[in-house]
This record gives sequence, C-alpha cells and structure tokens, in this order.
Amino acid sequence: MTIRLGDVVPDFDAETTEGPIRFHEWLGDSWGVLFSHPKNFTPVCTTELGQVARLKPEFDRRNVKVIGLSVDPLDAHAKWAEDIAETQGYAPNFPLIADPERTVSGLYDMIHPNASDTLTVRSVFIVGPDKKLKLSLTYPASAGRNFDEILRVIDSLQLTAQHAVATPANWKDGEDVIIVPSVSDEAAKEKFPGGWKTLKPYLRVVPQPGK
Ligand code: BEZ
Repeated sequence: MTIRLGDVVPDFDAETTEGPIRFHEWLGDSWGVLFSHPKNFTPVCTTELGQVARLKPEFDRRNVKVIGLSVDPLDAHAKWAEDIAETQGYAPNFPLIADPERTVSGLYDMIHPNASDTLTVRSVFIVGPDKKLKLSLTYPASAGRNFDEILRVIDSLQLTAQHAVATPANWKDGEDVIIVPSVSDEAAKEKFPGGWKTLKPYLRVVPQPGK
C-alpha cells in the first residue's frame, strides 16, 4: 500500500523494546518519526541508531516521538543495543519495533522486492499530531540517513503548521522564510505587521515568525 502525503497513516499493534504499543495511541498528541532499518547487527544501522539516541533531546524539544523498526525479533534488539552503546557511545533511548512477521513493514510498504525480498529499505515517515503523513523518505541500505536533516525538516513542517509560511532551499532555523502564495498582501499585513520584502509578487520574504 502506498501512503501518500496527507493520508492518515495506518495504525498497528506491535511488540517493541519498550513493551507492546498501538501506534496511534502511542503517538498521542505528539508528532512522530517512524523509521526502518534493513537488519540488526549491520554497520550503517548501528551508526544510525546511535545518532538518533544522541539527538533524542532535540526530538523531545520539538514534541516528536521517535520509533525505529527492524524485521529482527525482540531478543536480537536487546543484544544489539549493547553493541550500539559500546561503539557509538549512546544506547537506544527510544522504542524499536520487532517486526519478524513483516506486518508493519508490509503495511508501510517498507520492503521493495527489487532492492531486497526480505529486508526493509531505510524508510522515514514523519507524522503530524493529526496522524497524517507530513513527509516520507526512502533511502537504500547502503546510505545512512542524515538525522540533522530530519530535525531541520521537522522545524520547517512545524513552522508551516503554525504560521502561513514556507521555507526556502537550504533553510535553517532562524533564517528568513517565505509567505505562502495563498495569503494575499491584504491578509499578510495582518499576519506580518513588521512587513516583508517583495522580490517578486509571488516571492515575499519575511523574518521567521517567533524569532
Ligand atoms: C548496514 O546497515 O550497514 C547495511 C544493512 C543492509 C545492507 C547493507 C548495509
């Protein structure tokens, strides 16, 4: 099943390293990041889980719950966590789903048979508090993801959710943003009383709200 932007993401029950969960209930009112790993005890995955554990306070600060998924069973996750702590300096401090039956992997289309019949690709699903998909990414097994980029795009998504602005190429938190085209100049005067710069009628740049 293809999950598209704006769809309510599938709910599921799963066993995790922090006990059984029902996904939507577990998310509650938070944002969520669900990300998959091809396999336990593999080098790239080991570095990724260490990075997510290191960045956990940054996800917390943004009201984002993170959860990983691997097709290996629960007991393998516990042993792998020791290796991650030893080699990366951070033990996983977020739940990891054990999906040996490929139930969640199937629901989220994480197995791409022309890449591998059995292993998941590196998927990322960012879910809003409304349980709708805000962003998805697919990486191959050989390329570790950049979790600073995941945080950056969460900043962008949360800004758009709160204000009528979009973010330009390579934007980082604190930099100028763009007034979305659906906001007229009339409406923009109310929303952005400090004014904005009009580079083109469709390209109006304003300081990041709240900064
Ligand atoms: C890795 O995490 O290093 C990996 C996993 C599956 C295939 C290739 C690399």
